[in-house]
Amino acid sequence: MTPVLLHVSDLHVGAGPSLGRETVENLQRIIAEHRPQLLVASGDLTHRNRVAEHDEAARLLRSLELPIVAVPGNHDIPALPPRRFTRTFDAFRDVWKETEPARHLADLSVVGLSSVRPWLYQEGLVTTAQLERVAIQFEVQPEAARVVVTHHHIASAPWRTAKRPLLRRSKLLAALSRLEVDLVLAGHVHQSSTAAAAEFNVGEGKSVVVSTTAGLGRPRPGRHAEARGCQLWQIDADELHCSTFSWVGEDIRVVGQHAFPR
Ligand SMILES: [Fe+2]
Ligand SMILES: [Fe+2]
Repeated sequence: MTPVLLHVSDLHVGAGPSLGRETVENLQRIIAEHRPQLLVASGDLTHRNRVAEHDEAARLLRSLELPIVAVPGNHDIPALPPRRFTRTFDAFRDVWKETEPARHLADLSVVGLSSVRPWLYQEGLVTTAQLERVAIQFEVQPEAARVVVTHHHIASAPWRTAKRPLLRRSKLLAALSRLEVDLVLAGHVHQSSTAAAAEFNVGEGKSVVVSTTAGLGRPRPGRHAEARGCQLWQIDADELHCSTFSWVGEDIRVVGQHAFPR
């Protein structure tokens, strides 16, 4: 079976206009047409890490009735010390049990990594120890497509942002290439952007495809033009294919299509 997955991010439940029926119905339309086997949610599920926000975000995502890989974003931890350091992921774990879930489906392994660090605010980090855990997960079914999920982005956003990409990203990209990762999915910048590493960085080994998706939520109502949407990925034996969906209200459209050799 060709793996198909739906990537959403940055719900920011609790900020801006609430994610109403229109959001769910747009996602349901995409699911009904394209039949993804998995839903990836790459963090900032809540805006202020409140229990009610986590519950609402989980209710929305689970209503789509797909297996889910969810990782925390920088908004999914307490904003201030001491709880920021002492109870960093408590609220997230209460709902999702773990911050680094792995799912192994037919021909597809997806591993979530928590890139959030309580001593950093906007920046993220992935450590060598985390990558060692990724390697173990990919040994479960070595021939399957390999997808890693983080909240923070590796490649910079195409449009305006002050958010810095993952720290030590060159080392990280090289390590992901050595692990023969096909695809890295992220959020945080609230913009859709997709590129193969070889398009901007000539390294040895596999050219990892790095991607961010636009948010489902729009926590800063002043940014009227900020896109909302999601991505649908199909991973064939020799090609990765991405459809980018954007919407205004119920007007949902494919606004970009990208293909990369595997
Ligand atoms: Fe966000
Ligand atoms: Fe974020």
